[in-house]
Amino acid sequence: MNIEVLADPDAVARRAARTLVSVVTRARAGGRSASIALSGGSTPKRLFRLLAGSFRDRIDWESLDVFFGDERCVPADHEDSNYRSARETLLSRVPIPEERVHRMQAGGEDSDVERGAASYEETLRRLLPKREGGVPILDLVWLGMGDDGHTASLFPGTRALDVTDRWVVVNEVPQLAARRMTLTFPVLNAARWVQFLVTGRSKARVAGEIFRAAAPGTMYPAARVLPPQGRLDWLLDREAAAELGS
Ligand code: 6PG
Repeated sequence: MNIEVLADPDAVARRAARTLVSVVTRARAGGRSASIALSGGSTPKRLFRLLAGSFRDRIDWESLDVFFGDERCVPADHEDSNYRSARETLLSRVPIPEERVHRMQAGGEDSDVERGAASYEETLRRLLPKREGGVPILDLVWLGMGDDGHTASLFPGTRALDVTDRWVVVNEVPQLAARRMTLTFPVLNAARWVQFLVTGRSKARVAGEIFRAAAPGTMYPAARVLPPQGRLDWLLDREAAAELGS
């Protein structure tokens, strides 16, 4: 596990953007395209704008498949949609082929959302290489962390935390009185490279508890992302790292 404390959110975004450049370059050198799962929420917006700006021409967008780590159960044009946010700040501003953007169909009625999760799982299975046991392998997963230690839509105390035989599920989140669609730990932990992007003082307490704990604080969902065959980076700005201690 690699913990990097960077000066500010812009430095975190630049570090993550450079990772994507190297992941796509390395995949292309191996004669294949790369795959990434984008995180939702507000933290990655700065990164997405950077990728669509000064990094736009450093990435071969035609060699990248974009997936999502989770999605709110709202229509794709809803203001809370992670897809809409990524489309507005990044995907509509770079030359990525439409067929390489894989949106989670999470905005329908109950039965549709369950079907959407199964369909997304099939998409992962169809497009990605597999680990032993068939778990799809993403080249890069960007994750955020909530101030309760959740990541993707794996919230404390929710049923999705215990899923080991599915890669995509609909998760009831009582804390939000909402359902979310989310990748599960097996997929996150099968990735070749996971990067947490965590900024702001509101994340400092939980980040401190995770990294001060004797066993990396497994009580928080974010602390349970430990890809055994992949690289794990925690990219924090100084504010989020304020309680990491010496
Ligand atoms: C989501 C994200 C979620 C997010 C954290 C942090 O859909 O909201 O996937 O896991 O990364 O809640 O959100 P912020 O970046 O807004 O603090």
